Amino acid sequence: MNKDEAKKRAEKLRAEISDLRFRYHVKNDPSVTDDIYDSLTRELRSLEAKFPDIRLKDDPLSRVAGKPLPKFEKVSHKERMLSLNDVFSYEELEDWQNRILKLLGSKAPKLGYFAELKFDGLAITLRYENGKLVQGATRGDGFVGENVTENVKVISDIPLALPKPYPAEIEVRGEVVMSKKTLEELNAAQEKAGLPRFANTRNAAAGAVRQLDSALTKSRKLNFFAYDIAELSPDFRVRTKKHSDEHRLLFSLGFPVSEHEKICEDISEVKKFIEGVRAIREKFPFGTDGVVISVDDLALQDRLGVVGKAPRYMAAFKYPAEKATTRVIDITVQVGRTGVLTPLAHFEPTLVAGSTVSKATLHNMDQIERLDLRIGDTVVIQKAGDVIPEVVEVLVKLRSGKEKKFKMPATCPACSTKIEKRENLAGESVAYYCVNKHCPAKNIRSINHFVSALDIYEVGPKIIERLKDEGLITDAADLFALTEADLSGLERFGEKSAKNIIESIREKKNPPLPRFMMALGIIHVGEETARDLAKHFGTFEKLRKAKKENFDEIENIGPAVSESISAYFADAHNKKFLEKLFSLGVKPVSYKLQATSYKLKDKIFVLTGTLPTLSREEAKEKIISLGGKVSSAVSKNTSYLLAGADPGSKFTNAQKLGVKIIDEKDFLKLAK
Ligand code: IVH
Repeated sequence: MNKDEAKKRAEKLRAEISDLRFRYHVKNDPSVTDDIYDSLTRELRSLEAKFPDIRLKDDPLSRVAGKPLPKFEKVSHKERMLSLNDVFSYEELEDWQNRILKLLGSKAPKLGYFAELKFDGLAITLRYENGKLVQGATRGDGFVGENVTENVKVISDIPLALPKPYPAEIEVRGEVVMSKKTLEELNAAQEKAGLPRFANTRNAAAGAVRQLDSALTKSRKLNFFAYDIAELSPDFRVRTKKHSDEHRLLFSLGFPVSEHEKICEDISEVKKFIEGVRAIREKFPFGTDGVVISVDDLALQDRLGVVGKAPRYMAAFKYPAEKATTRVIDITVQVGRTGVLTPLAHFEPTLVAGSTVSKATLHNMDQIERLDLRIGDTVVIQKAGDVIPEVVEVLVKLRSGKEKKFKMPATCPACSTKIEKRENLAGESVAYYCVNKHCPAKNIRSINHFVSALDIYEVGPKIIERLKDEGLITDAADLFALTEADLSGLERFGEKSAKNIIESIREKKNPPLPRFMMALGIIHVGEETARDLAKHFGTFEKLRKAKKENFDEIENIGPAVSESISAYFADAHNKKFLEKLFSLGVKPVSYKLQATSYKLKDKIFVLTGTLPTLSREEAKEKIISLGGKVSSAVSKNTSYLLAGADPGSKFTNAQKLGVKIIDEKDFLKLAK
């Protein structure tokens, strides 16, 4: 990007950022999220760093925040109210530790840490003289804040008088917060009264304190958590050598202190705390956006001091943003195993939820049209946990005019066959198909699908590609005709691996019927439908001879699905493929209908770790056949966690939530 382009881009970014600020602060628009705001601000900052000339003297972004409101009396803080430096990964956390160690030099003592929650609310400082609350103030710009004494007095968590023995003087720092539940109630009431909703608990809490009517503050049911002592008279200083001592003193003086905090011997214990909080954060009654980590020893804190606005001895670990902005560089098309063309967006790589995202499926043309997405657009992408990334919004205002609309190609990118446009039955959406039965892209995908549906672990996509290239397979059935000799003759296939591959294929010659049905890759037949079909018909022979009406009879199977299944079995190409499979000895195992028992009715199981005898699939089948359910994540609704060897985080989650944990033996007793 040259300077001119950078300047234009910066202008657009500034306009969008100001608009977000306006919507967020003035209009309390709940659709504005911090992640997007931060992402755009980061882009602007990095452009300004690259081209210093484009910086503005009176940057609207560095204005607003933090200036005390004129309507409040101003308060000069005796001790400056600092901010925290953020770290976004364990790597950055370790860098922080290394910087500290380097500063402390070769005689650095062993560092101990204190980890606590970072609350998402409004920072408040409270002065007590002779045990009485004399002043409450906001942070303001760190030096001068607003006097909000009357308002903090009506927050019931904040003590008006301290129990004896109390220090002659103490200044307590903490966060005024609103619980998620209170926000919900408040927003319901706002809506009823035709008033705007609050975007989040932080906004609602800050709004309730930074206004002049303390009756209104009271009605907002705010809470308070104390996290620091800014000033303490000498009479009590002997008691506080560490930050953790300060927390203990705060607690004994009647301040609410979070129960989620921990003295940590080293960074690995800090990480454990961070992971623990990550697991319960969503369910926590208050908003937390991270963990605050301090060097526990106060004398060391003094030695480390402050740089800029933030102390060196503290860091805020922020959980990764689930939304970010980036630009669409290109849109390409992938051919799926059913022949459907799927547009794929390619991005400037960006970090979301802890991993770098450079592409995301756009699903279909409808999605592109709904978003009005064009190549060159700035978009908001979202990725929650392990979920695949998706484009959720186009920031239309950031367009330069050079964006290009995307058009589906007229011919298949893999085989150049003319693309067909098909409407779904209800006529609500269109899909584009490559109808060439021998399309190489389609074919390789259906082999991959077949192999992974049957859990033939040894045969991955790379091997399949190799086998196809060598002309050893043309479809999934050919896999069952392979011999060791076929493979060991190939370069880089040792005898051992050839043997493993052949064995692993042979082992899967008799897959359970639902698996087999899924492996065929019939459009609309996923795991659930495959199981429903197997349950209903019992054997593959009955299933393949069934008419469309027979499929229609099955609960959960709609017209589009039954149409697709009958079409699959009627197709000559598919018939040939099935005959080939059978002639090579593949035979699905009939489904035993056992769901007559409701022994485990309404029981929700979650599985973790490796069980001694049952495979995960077998355990699942058992649960379902006895009327139970299997869920992938532990929640308070989970009835049992069925745990094997090397369980993952589900185990600790279950412990925390008090979910009953059972092993295979217990489970087999339950299921008997
Ligand atoms: S320590 C050194 N501890 O985070 C100044 N701050 O990003 C920080 N915050 O203004 C004080 N929870 O409003 C500290 N447990 C905690 C906190 C916390 C939330 C807020 C506080 C501060 C901001 C800095």
